Amino acid sequence: MSPDDQSPVTRGAKFLGVLVALRAAARAVGRRGHEPPPPARESDIDPSQRTLPANPRTETLVGVLLLVAAVFAFAFTVIYIVSSGDTQLLGIAMGGALCLLAVACIVAGKFVVPQETHVEERGQLLDEEQTEEVVEMIAEGGQGISRRALLVGAGGVAGVAVVTAAATPLASLGPTLGPLHRTPWAAGVGLVDDQGRLYLASDIHIGTFYTALPEDKDPESFGAGILVVRLPADFIALPAARRDWAPNGILAYSKICPHAGCAISLYRYPTYAPTSQVPAFTCPCHYSTFLPGEGGRLVFGPAGRALPQLPLMIDGDGHLRAAAGFHEDIGPSWWGVHRAQS
Ligand code: FES
Repeated sequence: MSPDDQSPVTRGAKFLGVLVALRAAARAVGRRGHEPPPPARESDIDPSQRTLPANPRTETLVGVLLLVAAVFAFAFTVIYIVSSGDTQLLGIAMGGALCLLAVACIVAGKFVVPQETHVEERGQLLDEEQTEEVVEMIAEGGQGISRRALLVGAGGVAGVAVVTAAATPLASLGPTLGPLHRTPWAAGVGLVDDQGRLYLASDIHIGTFYTALPEDKDPESFGAGILVVRLPADFIALPAARRDWAPNGILAYSKICPHAGCAISLYRYPTYAPTSQVPAFTCPCHYSTFLPGEGGRLVFGPAGRALPQLPLMIDGDGHLRAAAGFHEDIGPSWWGVHRAQS
């Protein structure tokens, strides 16, 4: 049978076979063209490319950056302890430390540590030979560094400083350290209004509440603002140890809610005795409610304890003064907040 005698079906099958063969050949060529280059071997790497020459000036720069970062981080701790929680300064100190640390790492990574480029061979995991190579590579990372002691020392100091700064806020949980335990109120400190005028006991009227500040002290310091009210004797039932804390029925309490630290700004005073409840301070954040007549007792809301009370006295001129500091720590509660003073 001549080729011309082939049926259309036979001719179509042959054509299909040729197409399949061509496609397989194209794939083989394509694969070869995209094969990854063989991995670089240790001996292929030009030694001059493997390590940077020692660069003492850059190393000194890195050391200085690390030390300045350490200064900023230590400053965070110092500011935390000595200032009244100045958050702007704290932010500048911690932010500066982290920025300088980052710059030091970038400079060290770019100009101090040797730069190498390897094409990684995908072999089996945990290949012993490769593991050794990695260990070797890490060891070689220190080559070309002439001021190793400076960098290690500065890095160590910066690390200690940053860790100390990060751990410093934990001190607030303890009993004695930190601004949270100090307020400007102490025996003899006068109560003044926002114009700095001393309050007379006669200025305090039943049915309203007053905000007082400490005389000659920073009005923005922690715990400076207090609530002052006068109550009729019927509404006063203080614990026995506090009987003389409310001269002429005038009582003072911390203005900072012991739940989450909002400023207490609502005062409920009964105007229709048959249906009204006793006088109370209410925090607008989550409605914790405290009774000033009962030593700041918590009667509603999520605060975990009573409102800290400030003992008062009236001096010879009729001015209101603190008779002592707060009987316990003020502000949001933590597990060690109750101190043996009440
Ligand atoms: S902060 Fe006052 S109730 Fe939550």
